Order: sequence, then structure tokens, then C-alpha cells
Amino acid sequence: MEIIIQPTQQAATDVAARLIARLLIAKPHAVIGLATGSTPLSLYQSLISMNLDWSQATTFNLDEYIGLPREHPQSYHSFMWENLFKHINIRKENIHLPDGNATDIPQFCEDYENHILAAGGIDLQVLGIGTDGHIGFNEPTSSLASRTRIKTLTKQTCIDNARFFGSEEAVPKHVITMGIGTIMEARQNLLLAFGSHKARAIAEAVEGPITSIHPASILQMHPAVKVCLDDAAAGQLQRADYFRWVYENKPQWQMI
Ligand code: F6R
Repeated sequence: MEIIIQPTQQAATDVAARLIARLLIAKPHAVIGLATGSTPLSLYQSLISMNLDWSQATTFNLDEYIGLPREHPQSYHSFMWENLFKHINIRKENIHLPDGNATDIPQFCEDYENHILAAGGIDLQVLGIGTDGHIGFNEPTSSLASRTRIKTLTKQTCIDNARFFGSEEAVPKHVITMGIGTIMEARQNLLLAFGSHKARAIAEAVEGPITSIHPASILQMHPAVKVCLDDAAAGQLQRADYFRWVYENKPQWQMI
């Protein structure tokens, strides 16, 4: 895991945006996994402002609420169109999001996995982290080998996401999410976290034991993970000084 700590959210976002830009330039037909929520908003704004060529790229989103109409302002379908897709030159047929209204959810999930495989696998997966350590919507105790499937959100995640829906009760309880096994097959993972409310989850993911109680900790087993943090999200890392030192002393050819 490479832990990149920057003084501000924008500086940490800039590092992440440069990584994605570099991938898209080196591999125009890259397959990019995307996340929703508050965390990637600044990343999407930076990517939009970079005017990159997405015409050959393919995307797969991590998750979607079950039962929300696509057009609902809080569906991840709406979120992605509003905050990224309508601003870039990606082809509609290259965009993939879980369908929260699929009539046969297990079949849809199997097909989603097969579409990822058919696209050649995910080159880079963008991730946020829940305060309970979830990645995608793989809540604590999710199988570390899980694939795309239905999950029930924890009460904590419903409380955290109530800000989008007006109340905890209005948050859909069920979601489709890529599994942890699916995420672990991405060739690179790029985890972003900003703010002191994420500090404990980040410390457990980076410095804690690998355990399904803290799903993000499995990323310690992935060979190519970058974690972009602002100072606040790094606030509980015991080795923060070491991570800063490593980043400041990178050899020139490794600079991002
Ligand atoms: C969203 C997702 C979730 C969020 C996490 C953090 O697609 O996969 O894991 O990344 O819940 O959400 P925010 O960024 O709103 O704090």
C-alpha cells in the first residue's frame, strides 16, 4: 500500500486525478471502476477540468441502491451522470452501473461480473471508505472473497447516508455491490478519504489486522493500492510521518 498524505483534500485529489489521467493517456481503452458519495466529487471535478479523452474508455460502478428509480436524484445512476458522465466524452454503451431495479438480481449480478471479465478486467478501481470500513457496500463481516451481489446496509451506513435522503428511514436498506473479491481483482486500487471522520477507518484499514470486520483492511493483500488522504483523514495513522517521508523521497521516476 502506498499512503499519500497531502495537506488538503484538493492536493490529495490532484494526485489521484493525475494517476487516472496518466492511465487514460497510456491506455485510452482503459477500464475504470468508479465510486459515488461525497469523496469522489472533487476527483470528478478535477477530471472534468482536465479535458481528457474518454472516448475509448469503459467504466463500471461499484454499487447502486435497490428499488430507487434510475431518475431519483440520489440513485447512483443519477449521481454519475450529473457529476461526471454528462461532462466527458464517454460513450453511453461503455458505461456500466448495477441496475437496482433488475427483476432477477442474482442473474444481474452474475452478468455484471461477466461484463467486467469481457471488458478485460478493471485497470483501476476508485474507492471511498465508509466510517465502518466498508468498500463498495461490502459491510463489516462481508466475505473477503465475495462477488457482486445484494447486501443489506448497516444502521451506521444508513445514518451516514441520511444526509442525502433527508432521514435515516428514507435510505434504501438494500444495495447491489461489487464484491470484495471483485475489487481485489482490479489491477490497481485507488482509495480516497478526506476529513477527520474517516481517520479511524483509515487507520484500521492501513495499520490494523486484516479482518472482514473491517473490509477495507483486505487491501493490504493487494499488490497495487494507492491511498490518497488529506491530513485530517491521516490523523490516526501511527506511521503518518513515515508515509510522508516516503512520498517526499520518492525517486524522480516514481513521482505522480
Ligand atoms: C459508493 C461506495 C461507498 C462510499 C462510502 C463513503 O459508491 O462505494 O463505499 O465510498 O460509503 O461515502 P462518502 O464518500 O459519501 O463518505
